[in-house]
Amino acid sequence: MIKKIGRNDLCWCQSGRKYKACHMAFDEKLTQCKDKGYKIPSRKMIKNQEQLDGIRESGKVNIAVLDYVAEHIQVGMSTEEIDRMVYEKTLEYNGIPAPLNFEGYPKSVCTSINEEVCHGIPSKDIILKDGDIVNVDVSTIYKDYFSDSSRMFCLGKVSPEKQKLVDDTKKAIELGLSYVKPWHRIGEMGNAIYEFAREHGYSVVREVGGHGVGIEFHEEPFVSYCCPKESGVVMAPGMVFTIEPMINLGRSDIVMDDENGWTIYTEDGMPSAQWEVTVAVTEEGYEKLAY
Ligand code: MF3
Ligand code: CO
Repeated sequence: MIKKIGRNDLCWCQSGRKYKACHMAFDEKLTQCKDKGYKIPSRKMIKNQEQLDGIRESGKVNIAVLDYVAEHIQVGMSTEEIDRMVYEKTLEYNGIPAPLNFEGYPKSVCTSINEEVCHGIPSKDIILKDGDIVNVDVSTIYKDYFSDSSRMFCLGKVSPEKQKLVDDTKKAIELGLSYVKPWHRIGEMGNAIYEFAREHGYSVVREVGGHGVGIEFHEEPFVSYCCPKESGVVMAPGMVFTIEPMINLGRSDIVMDDENGWTIYTEDGMPSAQWEVTVAVTEEGYEKLAY
């Protein structure tokens, strides 16, 4: 049982402000959503201003690291070298690579090539080749705040269909962002990506998706990109989550590497692409915190 907060009590978000000047109108709005039958986010999913500022700073480090990778990635390099760049640059900015030792993950970044969907583990034996498409997924802890974003890199002469997959997956993210609007359900965003991918002849990975992020690496909610419009929690200002669809040229089915327990591949061996953005819901729409 939660005691009702008085107008002049301190707000539940720990801003130190009075409830009436902070989240009172917000709670009224959420109650209206709930009355319409929408699922509403838990308070844990709502970040206050200080937390948003922290995640934004973390996102700046995350992006600087990705920019550094973008400048240096090239054919002939091993994915271990990408790992080293991410590790060293992140530390240089006083951050910590979030993947390192996360649930036993052995490296600082995920590098997923061609038919690898996600969670490719960098190795000195994996050499980037002409024609590869590579996802570099960087997640950063900075002053205890988490951010998460990834990009695709097209190396050398990439086939037109792989190039188009990469470009269309980026468009899918942009489309998804345009559906991030307060008081709408997150399924509207996920479904828009799903329909876009389908219309372009692709499939979308179902089992792996986005997530809340900021105070921890992976928070609620799970963010699906193949769901009905009418599903998911209401996007409320202060929520922070990732948009990171994995879009396949062939079928949506995936398999997990049973030797390393991490890497996920397309079952049919066809290429897969992914971009990732960390986004905050605002009163007006959204703010990209890492992209
Ligand atoms: N960056 C990945 C994500 O977007 C996280 C992978 S977990 C790791 O969720 F341990 F493999 F890094
Ligand atoms: Co993520």
